Parts: sequence; C-alpha cells; structure tokens
Amino acid sequence: MVNKKQQYQDLSKFNVPKGFRGKSKFIVQIWWIIEKTLFAMSPQFFYGWRRFLLRSFGAKIGKNVILNTACIIEHECEISDSVHIAPGAVLAGNVFVGERSFIGANSVVMQGVKIGKDVIIGAGSVVISDVPDGKKIVGNPSRFI
Ligand SMILES: CC(C)(COP(=O)(O)OP(=O)(O)OC[C@H]1O[C@@H](n2cnc3c(N)ncnc32)[C@H](O)[C@@H]1OP(=O)(O)O)[C@@H](O)C(=O)NCCC(=O)NCCS
Repeated sequence: MVNKKQQYQDLSKFNVPKGFRGKSKFIVQIWWIIEKTLFAMSPQFFYGWRRFLLRSFGAKIGKNVILNTACIIEHECEISDSVHIAPGAVLAGNVFVGERSFIGANSVVMQGVKIGKDVIIGAGSVVISDVPDGKKIVGNPSRFI
C-alpha cells in the first residue's frame, strides 16, 4: 500500500501469499538457478532440452512447442501444442497459450491472461487482457490490428 504522505511503499508487513509460487520456495529457488543457467544459456536450437527442463518442474508444455532462447515461463503457465515463444518473451504466472500461437520477441504477457489459438503477438508487446482465437495484437498497451 502506498502511503500518500511518504510516497513510497510500506513493505514492513509484506509477505508472499501462501501457495503464490505454486511450489515450495526451495523448489522455486532451484528452478530459478536452472532458469538462469542451463535453461537461459542453452544453445538456440535446444528446444527439446528447454521443454524437458520446464516439464521436470511441473510446467504443462504441449508437443512441438518452440521455447526460444532466454524466454521466461513463470509458475503455473500452460502452453498448448505447436506454440512458438520467441526470444526474450515473458509469460507471467498462470498464463494459458492456445495451439499454434506465436508470442513475439521480448513481449510480456501479464499474469492470468488467456491467449487463444492461432494468435500472433507482435515483438515487444505488453498483453494485459485475454486475446480471442485468431487475433493479432501489438504494442504497449497492446491493441488489435
Ligand atoms: C506483428 C507482426 C507479425 C506484423 O504483422 P503485420 O500484420 O505484418 O503488421 P504490419 O507490419 O502491417 O503493421 C500493422 C500495424 O501494426 C504496427 N506494428 C506491427 N508490429 C508491431 C510491433 N511489434 N509493435 C508495435 N506495433 C507494431 C505497425 O506499425 C502498423 O501500425 P499502423 O497500422 O498504425 O501503421 C510483426 O511486426 C512482429 O512483431 N513480428 C514478430 C517478430 C518476432 O518476434 N520475431 C522473433 C522470431 S524468433
């Protein structure tokens, strides 16, 4: 909560809500180390390796999914078959991505957003709400084109 007089956040009572990370904090920290090393630094064409690492920590990743270099897939995301996540894209927690959708380079999909099937998200977009099947969306804040 922002104190209007002080104009900064009072973090003295801050706690991460129970179950927020989806797994215990130890598992999450192990994943964090793997994500920054084995995952992020794996060669560009190691799509299967990156799928394997994420699935090993419980992520739901479909068949033929391309997870490009240095993408970030946060907790409890679900990625359907034949999705392409381009380099540097970030899926915040609880994001669902439908089949054959493309998430452009360095874009950010905010927490809880549902991306339909056959969606194209342009590079650098910030997606803050659900995207219906077959749509193309670009920009920050994102808009349909
Ligand atoms: C969205 C994209 C697919 C282009 O789609 P398109 O239908 O050919 O779109 P156009 O180039 O005709 O542009 C249409 C409008 O969207 C805008 N636009 C296109 N891409 C945009 C982007 N990434 N961010 C912001 N605006 C964008 C254009 O400026 C244009 O705006 P206007 O109508 O106001 O002039 C492409 O621009 C893109 O972002 N591709 C992703 C590239 C990428 O991430 N590659 C990684 C490969 S691994």
